[in-house]
Amino acid sequence: MTKGPEERIAELTRLIRYHDQRYHSDDASEIPDADFDQLKRELLELEAAHPELVRPDSPTQMVGADPSTLFTPVEHRVPMMSLDNAFDRDELNAWAERALRRLAAARARRAAEESTAQGMLLSADDQEDDEDRPESRGAIGLEGSPPELGGLVCELKYDGLAVSLRYENGRLVQAATRGNGRVGEDITANILTLKSVPHLLPAGAPQVLEVRGEVYMPLAAFDALNAQQEAEGKPRYANPRNTAAGSLRQKDPTITATRGLSMWCYSVGEVHGGPGVATHSATLEYLDSLGLPVNPETVTVDSVNEAWEFVDQCEDRRHDLPYEIDGAVVKVDRLDLQRELGATSRAPRWAIAYKLPPEERTTKLLDIHVSIGSKGKATPFAVLEPVFVGGSTVEMATLHNQDQVKAKDVRPGDTVVVRKAGDVIPEVVGSVLAERPDELPEWEFPAICPCPHHQPLVRQEGDAAHYCFFPRCPEQLRGWIEHFAARNALDIEHLGEQRVSLFIDLGFIADVGDIYALDYDLIRELEGFGELSVANLAAAIEASKQQSLARLLVGLNIRHLGDTSSELLADAFGHVDRIMEASVEALAEVDGIGPIMAESVHEFFQSEVNREIVEKLRAAGLNFIQDTSSDAAAESLFQTLAGMTIVVTGGLEGYSRDGVGAAIKARGGKSPGSVSSKTTALVVGENPGASKLEKAEKLGIPVLNEAQFQELIETGTLP
Ligand code: IVH
Repeated sequence: MTKGPEERIAELTRLIRYHDQRYHSDDASEIPDADFDQLKRELLELEAAHPELVRPDSPTQMVGADPSTLFTPVEHRVPMMSLDNAFDRDELNAWAERALRRLAAARARRAAEESTAQGMLLSADDQEDDEDRPESRGAIGLEGSPPELGGLVCELKYDGLAVSLRYENGRLVQAATRGNGRVGEDITANILTLKSVPHLLPAGAPQVLEVRGEVYMPLAAFDALNAQQEAEGKPRYANPRNTAAGSLRQKDPTITATRGLSMWCYSVGEVHGGPGVATHSATLEYLDSLGLPVNPETVTVDSVNEAWEFVDQCEDRRHDLPYEIDGAVVKVDRLDLQRELGATSRAPRWAIAYKLPPEERTTKLLDIHVSIGSKGKATPFAVLEPVFVGGSTVEMATLHNQDQVKAKDVRPGDTVVVRKAGDVIPEVVGSVLAERPDELPEWEFPAICPCPHHQPLVRQEGDAAHYCFFPRCPEQLRGWIEHFAARNALDIEHLGEQRVSLFIDLGFIADVGDIYALDYDLIRELEGFGELSVANLAAAIEASKQQSLARLLVGLNIRHLGDTSSELLADAFGHVDRIMEASVEALAEVDGIGPIMAESVHEFFQSEVNREIVEKLRAAGLNFIQDTSSDAAAESLFQTLAGMTIVVTGGLEGYSRDGVGAAIKARGGKSPGSVSSKTTALVVGENPGASKLEKAEKLGIPVLNEAQFQELIETGTLP
């Protein structure tokens, strides 16, 4: 049942107050800004439609939340205001038109007042004409031509928190948060730790200068902090804005000092003895000349159309910047016009914020399912109510493993925050606890594999992942066969993803051994299989029997064993049978083979089903002997990555950490440990390093997932 306006207004008021409190006072927003804005817009619209229901204490009539008592209250002599928002070009135009109308009305009013003062009773039309007369010009100098907004200053909207710095006779004496706009909190000791904020201004600085701006956490500082958290086994911080807020509200300034916070100044409050500037852009230049941090991206333009261009471009620039922005701000440059336009109770009329489409949204977590990878790895993923975020609709997002689900405290039925920045893989940030239904049970990792064999999912000590160890698990089979046929393994050219799926679905293949027992007469009957394509497939399968032992080992899909380690084993043992019979100790004696790998190889060959598969391959006539040196094997690979520099971050299913580098090198590529402008592509596996990802994004370097990387390896072209 839909709620009546009164009821909905009460509900929205409650929700907005709650989230406002979280955002401003507790530094722990539960919902993304976009969702919060949506609540506010709905309330504004309802109030506009039902003015009789507007309560004097409605959140639409106030700025921010009341300050907490954590720090001493500071009264702002000039209130710190908020900004009204525009969400598209029409709303930006509407703002400019409103401002123009207001200027025209003010001018008409003033002209009327002057006429009255002169005892002349003129009609409204005459007043218009009369404005050209020099004696009717007012002190503000607007008259003479149709009202114009003049220059517009376009700034980025920095995603941090507003602060006010007070300099007296050039010395920083006080710094305060915005609080509710009238009263904030004293954070002087913490602000003094910011390297970009001068403690002293040059000689000749005004007697009193209040500087307003945004304190933010640069992305590099945020990544470094999270890397440190991870190294200490502590949970990651969710986003730079909240972390900046938390860092600034530390009781101990030495903690703030370690957080690498920075600031952009964007306006002034109280000023005595300043140089008397006429425009906002001149104010910014003046602040810059005093050594205060002023953002270099700011531009002044002559029209709303040009302002829109700036606003429109900021979305593209968003990921090239070393700090987060959530939009752009357009301000009337002339201070006389700013004064003329004035402000509402919460925001100036001479400025408007354009909010970028959100990169975080909330949605319902419908369920958590588990997918089984080609090596049996069970990965939980979120099934979401579809939500448009970061430029695409997200319905699923990986949750990595059991520990991640626990750390994020997400449960089916929760409202969760989903984040998708640019091209980056979507992620579930966490749950909105305020919206959790009562007694929502915690999610339990399933004890059995989702496949029809219902084999147990096992988590071994020291491993974050669960595995299904049953070799014929159909959930794994598809991945295993694709892996077996891949270029770095048996390299079976005409056995692609679609054909693998088809043959499995038709029951032609139940394990990799069956590839060599395919009935080509049956295949010929299938749609899409001409004589030639069947002949090509048969030839490719036949040729694969001659591949090296190392490649066969890769194809066997043994956990933890990648290309390089397969080479090492093949070189050391020379025959499948010797590897099959080797003890864990013997395997671990091979240089480059660690105990985990040795254990895994041994375990693989202990399995009855796996031994059956090996026998099938032997019977089919596959090469079980290492007769090519590893160098020759590398050379025999196509140099698909010649001249390319591929950086890998996070774990890949098909490769060990060393193996992936070796695979790239074997194909003529380079694989350094860090991203630079020379990087051809960044490959992102599980639990990737945030800094590499951010850097690649900043430099516009393509980001590939494992499947896309495999495609690159195979084809030599970026997908
Ligand atoms: S001007 C009186 N300029 O956005 C006008 N604000 O949503 C004061 N912000 O409270 C604000 N970048 O914390 C201004 N270039 C910018 C800004 C900016 C970020 C923040 C500021 C403000 C909030 C309003």
